[in-house]
Amino acid sequence: MPDQLNIAVFASGKGSNFHGILQGIQTGTIRNAQIVVVISNNANAGALVIARENNIPAIYMNRTDFPDDAEFNAAIVTTLENHHANFIVLAGYVKLIDVSIVRAFRNGIVNIHPALLPKFGGPGMYGRRVHEAVIAQHEKISGATVHIVDEKYDHGPIVLQKTVPVISDDTPESLAARVLQIEHELYPEAIRLFTEGKIVVQDQQVTIQQ
Ligand code: GRF
Repeated sequence: MPDQLNIAVFASGKGSNFHGILQGIQTGTIRNAQIVVVISNNANAGALVIARENNIPAIYMNRTDFPDDAEFNAAIVTTLENHHANFIVLAGYVKLIDVSIVRAFRNGIVNIHPALLPKFGGPGMYGRRVHEAVIAQHEKISGATVHIVDEKYDHGPIVLQKTVPVISDDTPESLAARVLQIEHELYPEAIRLFTEGKIVVQDQQVTIQQ
């Protein structure tokens, strides 16, 4: 890992996870890191508002504004280069990151998923659907997972997980709120471990050094 993490955040929604990481940096819990750009496929994303309020470049980029995948991905790469990003944090980004970017940032892209992977992940498993599925399968425990991004949705090596109970009268919304609360602890903690060089990825396996 580089000495200084120049983080590009990709977010599609509210941006509360992005905000949690930003606060970790601003309060000094996370050192040697800065958020250099926030990219969203949603022009109305709260994440873009938070970025602008904090003088972080906030960029809307949507595939539909480009003639093809190649030009869209090239524009993303150019944006990452222009802001000297060397690490990518997916924080509620609902699109798949192209393999060319995954390869260029191998082991340098992380995602947070609102369930205990490898269960309840994969294509289409995001937002409310994750919690609906957890409740439908009568799980007693759910949680959040921070993982390294590889070529498949919700698939790469797991960095950190934290659990929450599933309560008998939970709705997808009440469970989502409980999970989101721990996401706000888990994601900054994972980024802190990266900035301190404590995450080692080898053979698709993460080791956390003491
Ligand atoms: C979180 O639940 C995260 O796990 C999922 O999308 C949600 C994003 O929330 N990938 P926010 O935009 O960070 O508030």
